[in-house]
Amino acid sequence: MLVSDLPHVVVVEQRIYPFPWTEGNFRDAIVSGYDATVLEFGGVLVGYRVMMFGPGEAHLLNLSIADDWQRRGFGRQLLLASLHDARRAGAATLFLEVRPSNAAGIALYEGLGFRRIGVRRGYYPADGGREDAWVMSLPL
Ligand SMILES: CC(C)(COP(=O)(O)OP(=O)(O)OC[C@H]1O[C@@H](n2cnc3c(N)ncnc32)[C@H](O)[C@@H]1OP(=O)(O)O)[C@@H](O)C(=O)NCCC(=O)NCCS
Repeated sequence: MLVSDLPHVVVVEQRIYPFPWTEGNFRDAIVSGYDATVLEFGGVLVGYRVMMFGPGEAHLLNLSIADDWQRRGFGRQLLLASLHDARRAGAATLFLEVRPSNAAGIALYEGLGFRRIGVRRGYYPADGGREDAWVMSLPL
């Protein structure tokens, strides 16, 4: 992901999340050296992911497929590529957070072997309050 991708990334982000990352959030991720990667198909931005590395572990902070391109296998491909890249970077475990209400995300993650290992209470903003996050992990 390049800074020049950000206008497109932000359009996708705003269409698929009720509480989207801002352009500044993505810019900070790039500047901080996080692994920010876009998935293109025929020159079109189909999705993206942001991953952060720590000693022996990786954390998937954002995994997104544009609404027009969902349910065609791109999310699974991008997640599989993320597992591969995290393993190659030396991570033994990949962690992520997901809203318990995000049935599509949970089905995708569980389908590739992620298991819930904890709950962060009130982690996400939500309409009229906060929503918990499920913390999921996968040994690599
Ligand atoms: C979650 C997301 C990344 C899935 O990407 P996708 O390209 O649509 O998913 P795929 O076509 O690769 O599907 C892979 C699996 O995910 C699950 N899945 C995807 N969409 C689903 C839906 N609407 N309902 C239920 N399960 C779904 C299924 O298990 C599916 O496997 P199957 O096709 O064999 O049934 C995508 O819907 C998205 O970007 N959503 C908005 C942002 C988001 O919630 N990101 C995750 C935040 S933690």
